[in-house]
Amino acid sequence: MAKTETPQHADGSKGFALLDDPIRNKGTAFTAEERRRLGLEGLLPHAAETLDRQVERVMGHLDGKPNDLERYIYLIGLSDRNETLFFRAVMSDPARFIPILYDPTVADACLAFGHIYRRARGMYITREMKGRMVEVLRNWPTRNVRFICVSTGGRILGLGDIGANGMGIPIGKLQLYTACAAVPPDCMLPILFDIGTTNAELRADPLYLGLREDPPSDQELDELTEEFVQAAQKVFPGCCIHFEDWKGTDAIRIFNRYKDRVLCYNDDIQGTASVALAGLTTALQIVDAPLTEQRILFFGAGSAGIGIANMIAAAMQMKGLSQDAARSRISLFDIDGLLESTRAGLSEAQKVYAHKAAPSKDLVKTIETLKPTVLIGVSTKGGAFNQRVVETMSGLNERPIIFALSNPTDKAECSAEQAYTWSNGKALFAAGVQFPDVTVNGNTFHPGQMNNFYVFPAIGLATYVAKPRRITDECFIVAAQATADQIGPALRAKGMLFPGQANILETEVTTAARIAEFMFEKGLAQVERPREIRSWIEGQLYKADYKA
Ligand code: NAI
Repeated sequence: MAKTETPQHADGSKGFALLDDPIRNKGTAFTAEERRRLGLEGLLPHAAETLDRQVERVMGHLDGKPNDLERYIYLIGLSDRNETLFFRAVMSDPARFIPILYDPTVADACLAFGHIYRRARGMYITREMKGRMVEVLRNWPTRNVRFICVSTGGRILGLGDIGANGMGIPIGKLQLYTACAAVPPDCMLPILFDIGTTNAELRADPLYLGLREDPPSDQELDELTEEFVQAAQKVFPGCCIHFEDWKGTDAIRIFNRYKDRVLCYNDDIQGTASVALAGLTTALQIVDAPLTEQRILFFGAGSAGIGIANMIAAAMQMKGLSQDAARSRISLFDIDGLLESTRAGLSEAQKVYAHKAAPSKDLVKTIETLKPTVLIGVSTKGGAFNQRVVETMSGLNERPIIFALSNPTDKAECSAEQAYTWSNGKALFAAGVQFPDVTVNGNTFHPGQMNNFYVFPAIGLATYVAKPRRITDECFIVAAQATADQIGPALRAKGMLFPGQANILETEVTTAARIAEFMFEKGLAQVERPREIRSWIEGQLYKADYKA
């Protein structure tokens, strides 16, 4: 029998295995000396390139792709091959790449997840692993996990329950920690908590990759989640659990159970609320009106709506209103109409905003009765803010504040063009997705993208450096104020409610410094306070450079 030769460098630290390791792979950037030392000679073409030359090639590939979904697939493949090159490319032009890695392209990627699947990434914890989650989590190759982003896929963007297809979200969210705020990528773990799905179409798709069964009862889900949270803390001590895109009722119930017990946050609830408060703060700076005098109507009363309402109420209280007075300024309207005191079936979280009022299923009539100064859409109902809605808001207010936050794009309650045109340029508008500039009566408006990426990467960075015991709601209120404070008069004059995306790293670091400072002030941080917080943070930022 022929003797087989043992391949060289079978230990994985050298040779071919190195090219297969996305963290250490430099591809064509390995130098001649490295190629000799690491057993790479002959495995690469002759040229030894710089990282910037490699980025040039990446950009060329991207330009040749026919659409953003193909660019997304290419970029995920790149991050599987060469993480440094991936982040170098993405961080070179965040305004271009955020919409590809995240909203709106990630929605298409999630819908097609089973069809575009290439390679395993992150972890899949299924309900079948009950009783064994510690053992399973130990299969992850490192214990250095500082952030777990976990989703059930139960309510992805405005797409509803898409089960295991939701994995694109934890992956994308954690990539934005790095792309936006330079949190080192080696401490992140995306997890899809596969509890099954109600989505019959997906379950019938032969290429669907998740559990093909109905989700469990609330009680069973709570038990599974308890085991998961305990296991995550045991296997990855000190890690922060970022809950993302669980079904609305599950999201609120589970977050309430853990928010005071473990280091965690819910981005749909707190991140959304914070970024909405940031946009509202800026809009009120433009119209020079106090928050405590606003009347706010929400269209949509799910996890995002309730989260924003609670944070606005908390911010009003910080400005001197009683809890009752703050809540009385906020009303919600959902698929069954206005939340008012005679409505049955409301959750405890919703009841506090169900004031004495006549029942109504008509949004325009409700606006005429309640006379809101601010209208916030978080309903997943695309086009719900029609011409009559916008005109009614404009008739009641000199500068109506209208936020259409549902995403992806076709779920937005109205477009920027509709908001500015129907309000004759008076609306202060922001959406959950990026709409192009709009010119009305010769004035050009720059619609803000009210996206959580202004806040959660900064929360992540502050958490990374300050190692807090808990992340409180106040941290998110501080983040909102810090974001709003970064929009100068010139941007406000153009109707911009959020900073631009080109300098997102600068924005996030500034916000993170304010959050970290707050964590130190309130005794939440578990590391020693540095003399100068900003430069201390800057010293810990990830840089997309090859290591020697
Ligand atoms: P959810 O499913 O918990 O709540 C949706 C709410 O909208 C429910 O109260 C429902 O009754 C109401 N609704 C649905 N159809 C309606 C209709 N035809 N008329 C009136 N109300 C209706 O969802 P969640 O988590 O609150 O998210 C809602 C939307 O907000 C999603 O599109 C999501 O993508 C978006 N969102 C945007 C964020 C951003 O940064 N822009 C962040 C988080 C969520």
